[in-house]
Amino acid sequence: MKGIVLSGGSGTRLYPMTRAANKQLLPVYNKPMVYYPLTTLMMAGCREILLVVNPSDEESYRRLFDDGKQWGLEIRYVVQPRPGGIAEAFLIGREFVGNDRVGLILGDNLFYGDALPALAERGATGSGAVVYAYWVSDPSAYGVVEFDRAGRPVSIVEKPKEPKSNWAVTGLYFYDADVCDVAAHIPRSARGELEITDVNAHYLRQGRLHVEKLGRGYAWLDTGTPSSLLRAAQFVETVEDRQGLQIGSPEEVAWRSGYIDDAGMEKLIQPIRDTEYGKYLQRLLARG
Ligand code: DAU
Repeated sequence: MKGIVLSGGSGTRLYPMTRAANKQLLPVYNKPMVYYPLTTLMMAGCREILLVVNPSDEESYRRLFDDGKQWGLEIRYVVQPRPGGIAEAFLIGREFVGNDRVGLILGDNLFYGDALPALAERGATGSGAVVYAYWVSDPSAYGVVEFDRAGRPVSIVEKPKEPKSNWAVTGLYFYDADVCDVAAHIPRSARGELEITDVNAHYLRQGRLHVEKLGRGYAWLDTGTPSSLLRAAQFVETVEDRQGLQIGSPEEVAWRSGYIDDAGMEKLIQPIRDTEYGKYLQRLLARG
């Protein structure tokens, strides 16, 4: 399964934090932000990953992820010259997608929940487009989906002034290989971007958009503003501290998913043995 992580963008709402650092490299508590969406895709079974990055950040991401083999992945990089919209990922990633089903996750989205792997796996193996909706108090900053009485999606609108429901569309999407053609034919929006909501609206018109509601047993957080970034960090700290288990560790997900074996994990631990993170990985390995 292939997956794309969108890690470009200008991060203007986080300025001046994003003046010299790419938004998705900023920390969410104890890890770079991009670790969280990456591990969500890994849990969905995506092992071939394309990272979409800004021209000035490619080197930093390569330093962070290399070619992904250390985690049993195959990570490639493609540069997005300027932030032209989320759906642009399917123009610059067309070759990567080929004829396969593909997952896309936004580099600033954090998902948490026990059943997340199974839920994401359903998207990965489903048909047409599969997206996820989450009930939020103020949906106007998101794509918003409206359902009929039978629970079928009937409309999807980007950042509506008067939202038709509280169901926000999250930044995790799965598509069949048609998505590259769909993205190539949608017009640019008023803000000059190729909107992912227009791609989803196209699938909806064709009757090929499946929307799964994320119930109250999930957390979906975004990290686009200083307040939401802080809240996401506090959420991670609270859960990790209580459980002594980490959220969004690629080494752990790789090891638990069988992408790497004990020896592979040992190798990763070796150079970071004395760090808190290294000690955490050692504890996992020792306890099984
Ligand atoms: O978080 C979910 C929301 O994400 C959805 O509900 C909306 O429908 C969707 O349009 C998107 O809204 P945002 O306004 O939050 O998207 P934003 O421009 O902040 O970009 C989201 C991520 O994608 C961010 O991590 C940066 C990255 N990005 C964005 C654009 C526009 C890129 O890598 N390249 C881009 O061209």
